[in-house]
Amino acid sequence: MKKILNTTASVLAGLAISFNVLAVAGVELDHANTDIRDQKSLQNGAKLFMNYCSGCHSIGFMRYNRIGKDLNISDADVEKNLMFNSKKIGDQIISSMPDEGAIKWFGVTPPDLSLVARSKGTDWIYTYLRSFYKEESRPFGVNNKILVNASMPDVLWELKQSKSAEDFDQDVRDITNFLDYVGEPAKLVRVDLGYKVMGFLFILFILSYLLKKEYWKDVKYGKWRAKD
Ligand code: HEC
Repeated sequence: MKKILNTTASVLAGLAISFNVLAVAGVELDHANTDIRDQKSLQNGAKLFMNYCSGCHSIGFMRYNRIGKDLNISDADVEKNLMFNSKKIGDQIISSMPDEGAIKWFGVTPPDLSLVARSKGTDWIYTYLRSFYKEESRPFGVNNKILVNASMPDVLWELKQSKSAEDFDQDVRDITNFLDYVGEPAKLVRVDLGYKVMGFLFILFILSYLLKKEYWKDVKYGKWRAKD
């Protein structure tokens, strides 16, 4: 009997999970349209992330000085504008939120976001951050359309009030872009290298074409034709 109950319970749990996934899959995601080569966007995203997110979320795979180096921000500026939780520029970016406090306040610890752009995708993050809506019965007075009953407050609410919808979307795009970079810093080099390789192939194509023309000129005018 116990076994049957257990099996039923796991089947039900499985169904609940699939419904949850289906429910989320049913929501259309907006396109993030991020561009990892846009350094201004990444710099703004880094600043916003440190100001609005790093109090709760770590990005433990990343260090402050690496961001400085990759995004062209001097160590002095990194220390002044980006380092709130740490003293040393070589430190990993770890939130100042104590685990016990987090459980008490949110019921969960805010997840490390190092790889979230890879696991959820940029469209998901972009849509998630713009999908909070008022719901008084929730602990923080808000709910979220794509992460139903999210225990994260709408931390960008004030920023949203302070600017036009377009500027706000751009800020969210920049944060998303920054998280995409954090998920794979090598992408900066990879994408850049890709363009260089394409450029090289293009030049090679033109040279080969000119060379071909040069050879065929001789062939056409019969220089190489065997004598009868
Ligand atoms: C006050 C603390 C707090 C702040 C500040 C905060 N978050 Fe969160 N965040 C949470 C909590 C708690 C969760 C877990 C939500 C859940 O699972 O219900 C979460 C979840 C998320 C998730 C979903 C991760 C996943 O894999 O499910 C993303 C993405 C995220 N936050 C991004 C951000 C970004 C970007 C910022 C800054 C703009 C931010 N958060 C600021 C507390 C916070």
